[in-house]
Amino acid sequence: MDLNLTNIKQNSQIDEFINQTDKKLNNLNFTDHGRRHANIVCDRAVKIAKTIGLSQSEIEYSAIAGYCHDIGNFIDRKLHHYWGSLLFHQIFTNKTSDIEGLSTIVQAIANHDKEEARLTNNTSAVLIIADKSDVHKDRVKERDKYKIMKEIHNRVNYSILSNDLDINKDTKIITLLLKLNTKTTTIMDYFEIFLDRMKYCRSSANYLGYKFKLIINDFSLI
Ligand SMILES: [Fe+2]
Ligand SMILES: [Fe+2]
Repeated sequence: MDLNLTNIKQNSQIDEFINQTDKKLNNLNFTDHGRRHANIVCDRAVKIAKTIGLSQSEIEYSAIAGYCHDIGNFIDRKLHHYWGSLLFHQIFTNKTSDIEGLSTIVQAIANHDKEEARLTNNTSAVLIIADKSDVHKDRVKERDKYKIMKEIHNRVNYSILSNDLDINKDTKIITLLLKLNTKTTTIMDYFEIFLDRMKYCRSSANYLGYKFKLIINDFSLI
């Protein structure tokens, strides 16, 4: 089979692993890591890959890595990037002859949540930016406002009213534009949990030959 997004979305194991991940992380009171997040990261990865002019196969691999990157969470949150990459390999290793695609996607999934970005392929860099930039109030699963405000990940996500990623091929700048409700959280809160992720985005953008900018409420912060 070809490694393309249509085939991957039709795979019953991928489908169930996303369901199980959603269930597990809901039970642990995490923000959304299920189908909404998978589709948003997939769409954003495609947008980045297309805009910066990656090859057709790299666009497809970025889409797949975006859709599947969190499937390992239902086994264990801590090493979910490794679990996810091994699961992906197990599912498709005897089904496809596209070994280059398989190894690129496996590597991108394994790389997406490490402490240090050591990038060696474009798909990994695209996935990191697409994943780490998904912060939005729609990611919050908790419905109790008091509990949302007590937990920093929920509080910060809940306070992000809009999120847009601009990729400018002429200026070679990728910009994450956020609207943050400062009545429900502070910019310091945002940085407390997102500083490492933003540094990770910067390294990934640099790998792709771009600069990374973060604008919150019209203020340029990095
Ligand atoms: Fe992840
Ligand atoms: Fe993710």
